[in-house]
Amino acid sequence: LRPKDLEGLSVVVTAGPTREFLDPVRYISNPSSGKMGYSIAKEAWYRGAEVRIISGPVALESPHGIQVIPVTSAEDMLDAATRAMDDCDVMVKAAAVGDYRFASRSEHKIKREGKSEVSFSMIANPDIAATLGEMKKQGQILVGFAAETDDLKENARRKLRAKGLDLIVANDLTEPGSGFGTDTNRVTIFDVQGNSKEVQGDKTEVASIIWDEVLLRREGR
Ligand code: PMT
Repeated sequence: LRPKDLEGLSVVVTAGPTREFLDPVRYISNPSSGKMGYSIAKEAWYRGAEVRIISGPVALESPHGIQVIPVTSAEDMLDAATRAMDDCDVMVKAAAVGDYRFASRSEHKIKREGKSEVSFSMIANPDIAATLGEMKKQGQILVGFAAETDDLKENARRKLRAKGLDLIVANDLTEPGSGFGTDTNRVTIFDVQGNSKEVQGDKTEVASIIWDEVLLRREGR
């Protein structure tokens, strides 16, 4: 039985991948399954919070008691997340957001005939976490993730500061049993004071420790 120590809190979790469409039948995306974000959301619900998930396209069932707001692209996710930021206490950004989208999207399927090579130009998507970091009001807590293949600590600390986060959960994607699609994860949680904590286990267990860390930061205020 979990303690109801998140009772009274309104929590929003972004989860899953985004998709950036080139034409009606093709898109660019990433392998996020949504498992990490959904585990964080479910854990918060078990512990008494009111929970919403802003979810990219995933194959997971909508968890009982939780409102799921479906989105597709990074721009859709930005729109839903900035709205939700107005009235939440904690926002956790576990989604794997596409950094780029196609500069233009064709209304019709792009034909293959006669082309031995193609290239498409891409432009940067808005940084959702950084936008939310700027919107953050007194008392709100913003938790980001960092998916890294090298220099985990340096990159995570840089993203923590640059995006105005209170905590960042850094995944080393090169570790077996960590990151995209797995049921387990291996992460290091960094805070703005320079503290860090390594956590390894089922995504449910990792989620539970993330909430313990969030609660510590709220109590410390
Ligand atoms: O879904 P699973 O299969 O369970 O996998 C979990 C996970 C690997 C997707 C998850 O644990 C994770 O690491 N999520 C963040 C992935 C990511 O996009 O990392 P990043 O280092 O590129 O981005 C850093 C932070 O900025 C993230 O909080 C991200 O949500 C946010 N971001 C990134 C780009 C962008 N345009 N807007 C953002 O808000």
